[in-house]
Amino acid sequence: MAVTRTFSIIKPDATRRNLTGAVTKKLEDAGLRVVASKRIHMSREQAEGFYAVHKERPFFGELVEFMISGPVVVQVLEGEDAVPANRKVMGATNPADADEGTIRKEFAESIEANSVHGSDSDENAANEIAFFFNEDEIVG
Ligand code: RTP
Ligand code: MG
Repeated sequence: MAVTRTFSIIKPDATRRNLTGAVTKKLEDAGLRVVASKRIHMSREQAEGFYAVHKERPFFGELVEFMISGPVVVQVLEGEDAVPANRKVMGATNPADADEGTIRKEFAESIEANSVHGSDSDENAANEIAFFFNEDEIVG
């Protein structure tokens, strides 16, 4: 195992319900360390760019509307095998399928308003981190 980084977003449904701290505690309890964090309100262009891989999916338009519906907290997380460690504590995309104790099981409202984003590979993590952060904003 190696210490790696992943990228996380606390989504608008969670910031709206004042769950930034509760979600972050789950991440920290899972052994992940927040090495960069900022609260932003994404522009439509940012959201469309970030989710460009989903452009052809039927839910793309709704997903972009949702992601710009309120503030989000973008974070860089560091830990042992950070990508799978984060995916594990996030839980399944659809909260109805998420395991007990996961963020989405406890907090998600729906398959779309599912409280968190997490990178799905080391390569995507590096790209997503670079999309939102300069290297000098990341302090391990
Ligand atoms: P994420 O990228 O946000 O970490 O979530 P994920 O890998 O578990 O899910 P993904 O398939 O990448 O989908 C990205 C986000 O799109 C929304 N979604 N809506 N209405 C739908 O059927 C649907 N399916 C996915 C969710 O917000 C999901 O997290
Ligand atoms: Mg994904």
